[in-house]
Amino acid sequence: MTPITLTRLREMKRTGEKIACLTAYDASFAALLEEARVDVLLVGDSLGMAIQGHQSTLEVCLNDMIYHTANVRRGQKRALILTDLPFLSYSTPVQALGNAGRVMQSGAQMVKLEGGAWLAETVRLLDARGIPVCGHLGLMPQSIHKLGGYRVQARSQGDAERLLEEARILEQAGAALLVVECIPRALAATVAQSVNIPVIGIGAGSKCDGQVLVLYDMLGISGKIPSFCRNFARSGNDIPSALRDYVQAVKSGEFPATEHGFD
Ligand code: KIV
Repeated sequence: MTPITLTRLREMKRTGEKIACLTAYDASFAALLEEARVDVLLVGDSLGMAIQGHQSTLEVCLNDMIYHTANVRRGQKRALILTDLPFLSYSTPVQALGNAGRVMQSGAQMVKLEGGAWLAETVRLLDARGIPVCGHLGLMPQSIHKLGGYRVQARSQGDAERLLEEARILEQAGAALLVVECIPRALAATVAQSVNIPVIGIGAGSKCDGQVLVLYDMLGISGKIPSFCRNFARSGNDIPSALRDYVQAVKSGEFPATEHGFD
């Protein structure tokens, strides 16, 4: 079993093999995700909603992320583990370095930060200290009160140009991966073509280098499933089959379909 590394993710972008990513929060699901050959496990701060029952990700703290990362790490060996730094845990480069270090020591192989140009110095510092960084643009749930709701981002030409510029800035600063959430499919395609790092989409159309979903959404466990998601456990699929179907659908380009994206 060859572990998924950053080098492998870069190779997948180069060769056009789609990257299958799902969120994971515990060892039991991590083992099932490994069996299904999910490439990247995101220990997302969506656990604030999925696990803790909050209304947003803002309540999640660093110790929560460390705890869940360690659980996921113990459950599997193959996938690359990417962990979110939670709300206000990376407000300065030095704060980010200390907190990212703790997350890496708990088992993560990369950390994800929400934001654009303002993070360039932080990304440079983490990268220089050996901590791979994944950027996150578009709908950034940690800024939900500023954004005014969970809705599609960067629909105007000006906002789209800004997002593309921020993607380039993050790449130049040393980001190794980028998540784009809830943006028009044409913009996501342009971003993926314009940077050399793999771009993982959620609600961003099929032209990204990979896809991510919240595990509990795609298994139909969440109360409300977003329109860009498919319930892979529908029609009586058991959990291992639903996970395998997701990986197969992402790899073949069958998911996301047109109805899972935005214009
Ligand atoms: O926290 C999370 O699950 C995420 C995904 C929605 C990309 O950041």
